[in-house]
Amino acid sequence: MKLYLDTANVAEIRELSWLVDGVTTNPSLVAREKRPFSEVLGEICGIVRGPVSAEVVALDRDGMIREARELARVAPNVVVKIPMTEAGMQAVQALAREEVHTNVTLVFSANQALLAAKCGATYVSPFVGRIDDAGGDGMGVVAEILPIYRHYGFPTEVIVASVRHPGHVLQAALLGAPIATVPYEVLKKLFGHPLTEAGIARFLKDWQKVPKA
Ligand code: E4P
Repeated sequence: MKLYLDTANVAEIRELSWLVDGVTTNPSLVAREKRPFSEVLGEICGIVRGPVSAEVVALDRDGMIREARELARVAPNVVVKIPMTEAGMQAVQALAREEVHTNVTLVFSANQALLAAKCGATYVSPFVGRIDDAGGDGMGVVAEILPIYRHYGFPTEVIVASVRHPGHVLQAALLGAPIATVPYEVLKKLFGHPLTEAGIARFLKDWQKVPKA
């Protein structure tokens, strides 16, 4: 299973670059950095060897294709995030022919994921946290997408996105999702367990009782 970091913060990416397999950004994450996007994207692509998702903001097919080509020129590991709309899927289809890698974003249903795969998306991002927030079952949608992709042999990879807590990562792993993109705070939580900390403290305390040679 691959773990991506869901952030545009260069310090967070640098700290966890030894662990993560890729990075996803979106316009809201980029806005937090208060720096020009091209500068941030170039820096991230220099730190991470794996795929780095960068989102278009145009909403029409030709505008998305134009922006996608510009983003793809920044570095060979750029993956262009395209929103799940009809125009977006037309753009994905055209970009697939040019071998530009795409990540279809804002996916909330298995049917949307089916269309993204049919159009040749490299990745599809179901937003599990936002589905849960709206009273749905985010991981249930992932559980629907995975067998559909297997059934038809679609090469599109599922990125479990909008991850809110370690439970989402665990469920993604149990379902066999190939990738989860995880915010910094959630990724850091995966290392910890209260019994690990208590165990270390007890071992260190007991170590003091061992006679020195
Ligand atoms: C994924 O690619 C998105 O950037 C992200 O996971 C959205 O998460 P949010 O719902 O917490 O904004």
